[in-house]
Amino acid sequence: MVGKPGRRVTVFGAGYIGLVTGACLAELGHRVVVRDINADRIQLLRGGGVPIHEPGLGELITKNKERLSFTLDLREALDGAEVVYVCVDTPPSASGDADLSRVWTVVDSLTGAAHLRAVVMKSTVPVGTGTRVRAVLDGAGLAHLGYASNPEFTAEGKAVHDFLHPDRVVVGTSDETTAQLMRELHEGVDGPVVVMDVKSAEMVKLASNALLATKISFINEIATLCENTGADVEEVARAVGLDHRLGSHFLRAGIGWGGSCFPKDSEALRQLANNTGYHLQLLSAVIEVNNLQKRRAIQKLAEALGTLAGARVVLLGLTFKPGTDDMRESPSTVLASRLLAEGAQVHCWDPLARPGDVQPWASTIRHPTPLEALEGADAAIVVTEWPQLKEVDWARAAAAMRRPVLFDGRNLLDPQAMRALGFTYMSVGRP
Ligand code: UGA
Repeated sequence: MVGKPGRRVTVFGAGYIGLVTGACLAELGHRVVVRDINADRIQLLRGGGVPIHEPGLGELITKNKERLSFTLDLREALDGAEVVYVCVDTPPSASGDADLSRVWTVVDSLTGAAHLRAVVMKSTVPVGTGTRVRAVLDGAGLAHLGYASNPEFTAEGKAVHDFLHPDRVVVGTSDETTAQLMRELHEGVDGPVVVMDVKSAEMVKLASNALLATKISFINEIATLCENTGADVEEVARAVGLDHRLGSHFLRAGIGWGGSCFPKDSEALRQLANNTGYHLQLLSAVIEVNNLQKRRAIQKLAEALGTLAGARVVLLGLTFKPGTDDMRESPSTVLASRLLAEGAQVHCWDPLARPGDVQPWASTIRHPTPLEALEGADAAIVVTEWPQLKEVDWARAAAAMRRPVLFDGRNLLDPQAMRALGFTYMSVGRP
């Protein structure tokens, strides 16, 4: 948008979504202030640091530093702002519904900001939230403000690319002025802006993530059946995916899905349905299949080792997928807890994860390289398909392990080659 003045945007929340949104909107030519309540985070950003690992984000922040600033101060954040983006987290509450307390704090803080033109909801919220926000804004004398639901479809590890080159930008709004403002804000984005009503936009987000999770759980069930019948899930997924009506994405069988979105959003959708008196049977099964997938891995290891009690088991990879430092709802946490509960010693390796001094990680031992982690081990599980694991000298690893037992939870390695090296090698859905 070179040459255009751009809009003045305030982004609430300097997490994954807020930072990517802020940096990308600045890249599109808008003047952006990102506001967060975490002083350490804001200080780091002001000093040129980036608190999360997201490819391209640091470069984009540096490149657009003239148009991008960070603040703790609410008044400074809202000064002169035309559009407010809500990008705060909505974690699951005790009931499984999304906890919207941070969203309400932002909405309440807008009282008096009469110069604003619109509020844009990027946080993932239950269907119906827009109606409630509208009522609060109206009650606060902000009836003239537009409201748009603008769900996020970026995936961690490629969030910057996904924002600038999306399959679609979904905008849910009830008025054409706000729709037009959103089109203008996205000028320069390489993808169509699809406008609809607010509730439908809110549903698109939850339905999209639920369908992606369904594809994975479906192929994981087929993988189990492949194990029982001698078929190879990799071949099955390859050929199924060639049908353009089905598509090849999200058909990689493995130890199960995790992350900050699928577990939280699928549970939120299930509870949303329950709250309306309807039980989403298919989605409940999708969640159950995913939970079982991790327990099946432990079961297979126990069978291979005789017992897990006293065994030294290595988790190779801790993050929920490669290319990120994010461990939220990662299968590794469930695996570590289950292994410790069975009396195993848990050792681990990951190039980016920062598990911290919390359970179950406080009871595990970290190593700087996969080979060091595997030294003297009774078994290992590939939890995350980090490319570094393909480069491991597996012959050396087999010699270094006390018992070369490997469960490849991501079908990363070649079964024949691993068996030729002497491994008791197990994977997901492959003969
Ligand atoms: C997901 C969606 O892909 C994004 O579109 C969405 O915007 C985002 O959630 C969100 O709601 O914010 P993300 O959680 O970053 O993105 O990660 P994905 O790449 O979708 O992977 C999710 C999980 O599924 C990972 O644990 C991954 O290992 C697993 N997965 C993925 C499989 O087990 N098999 C597959 O074929 C694909």
